[in-house]
Amino acid sequence: MMSIKEAMEQGTGQVSIRGWVHRERKSNQFAFIIVRDSTNIIQCIVEKDKVPQRLWEDAIQRATIEASVIVHGTIRPEKRAPSEYEIDITDLEIIGESHEFPITKDQSIEFLADMRHLWLRSRKMTAILKIRSTVFGAIHDYFRENGFYEYHSPLFQSVQCEGGSTLFKVDYFGQKDVFLAQTWQLYAEPAIFALEKIYTIAPSFRAEKSKTSRHLTEYWHAEMEAAWATFDDIQNYGEGLLKCIVGRVLEKNQDELRILKRDIKKLESAVKKSFVRMTYDEVLNILKDKCKIEIEWGKDLRTIEEDELSKMFDTPIIVTNYPKAVKAFYMKEDSKNPTVVHGCDFIAPECYGEIIGGSERESDITQIEKRLREQGEDPNQYLFYLDTRKYGSVPHGGFGLGVERVIAWVCGLDNIKDAIPFPRTMLRKTP
Ligand code: 4AD
Ligand code: MG
Repeated sequence: MMSIKEAMEQGTGQVSIRGWVHRERKSNQFAFIIVRDSTNIIQCIVEKDKVPQRLWEDAIQRATIEASVIVHGTIRPEKRAPSEYEIDITDLEIIGESHEFPITKDQSIEFLADMRHLWLRSRKMTAILKIRSTVFGAIHDYFRENGFYEYHSPLFQSVQCEGGSTLFKVDYFGQKDVFLAQTWQLYAEPAIFALEKIYTIAPSFRAEKSKTSRHLTEYWHAEMEAAWATFDDIQNYGEGLLKCIVGRVLEKNQDELRILKRDIKKLESAVKKSFVRMTYDEVLNILKDKCKIEIEWGKDLRTIEEDELSKMFDTPIIVTNYPKAVKAFYMKEDSKNPTVVHGCDFIAPECYGEIIGGSERESDITQIEKRLREQGEDPNQYLFYLDTRKYGSVPHGGFGLGVERVIAWVCGLDNIKDAIPFPRTMLRKTP
């Protein structure tokens, strides 16, 4: 037995492959069965007069869409076939029948979402899932090659970090104040005193009420935290990580990018040069000058504004020094300008929005307590976290990368939902 890819590499002679019927077309004399496995597709032909009666009947009646089959036959190059090879079948085994596979042509997005468990087999989803695997591998490799330890935080948490409005409460034996993780951060910072440089890839949960093409309620979050890191170091790690991810996909997934009809040139140019870096104030100026968009100082950047910004450049844009009021309590105040913080958002090209959020962390314990109180939080709930600033505090920082946002950008998807096998949103929790 061999994969379709291996059979095509062999190119001629006897082959045996196994997979699923991707498409079929039958006439009085011929059956054309396109078989798919995880590596490729290949057209297989049965000619009525050249095979035993039983084989012809199986080909006609039982080799239906998504039936699993083993094919024995002779392979040869054939320019007109979908993958430029063809197999003349000499024997066909039907392993698992499949009758009336529900997904036929021209189905609505909602129907395909209901049939997600079957839609995963589509060429589009298969291509995305392969790229997704490359992306996860690249993240692990990047951090490990840069001296980071993999570290894990709890997913049941007792404090919020990214704002109460997107917290999922859980019934934890009837106790109150138990939430699903929005981020690993508050449980990661204590560990930099042991490991210094750490990373994770884990699920994060956000009770997002927004029904946008960018928000999931459960997403995979790649996060790093590093002791002694400066604000610049954090931005450099983010840039390095994105370049590594995109570079790896360009190296390994040309076929998949082609299936997805991705404009590969745009991806290449996004990572060829240094990323654009600008402060929030500079963003306000450039949006005013170039797009006639006026933003009142102190307001957060909205999606439409980020999109306008992304249209001006072909690389991601690192926006720094946001007004303190729009950013999280843990971000470090700029020593030269206490109205802004050392936080940074990476805005993806081509209107894919914020893909990384990070910051240098505030080291002043009274600042943190004050800002927690301003947000209606009780600092006494955060005592374990505040201890990180009491015993040998060091300058440090980190970021979080939304893995599905990056996959959506790299694959050129219309919606983040296709970047994850079973998307969870406000409106969808099944299948
Ligand atoms: O900007 P966020 O909220 O930052 C944090 O959680 C920090 N504690 C990370 C850190 O410093 N360790 O989220 C980080 C990233 C965003 O930039 C975005 O890419 C992604 O997580 N993200 C989402 N992705 C999909 N669906 C959602 N609802 C998301 N919310 C955030
Ligand atoms: Mg953010």
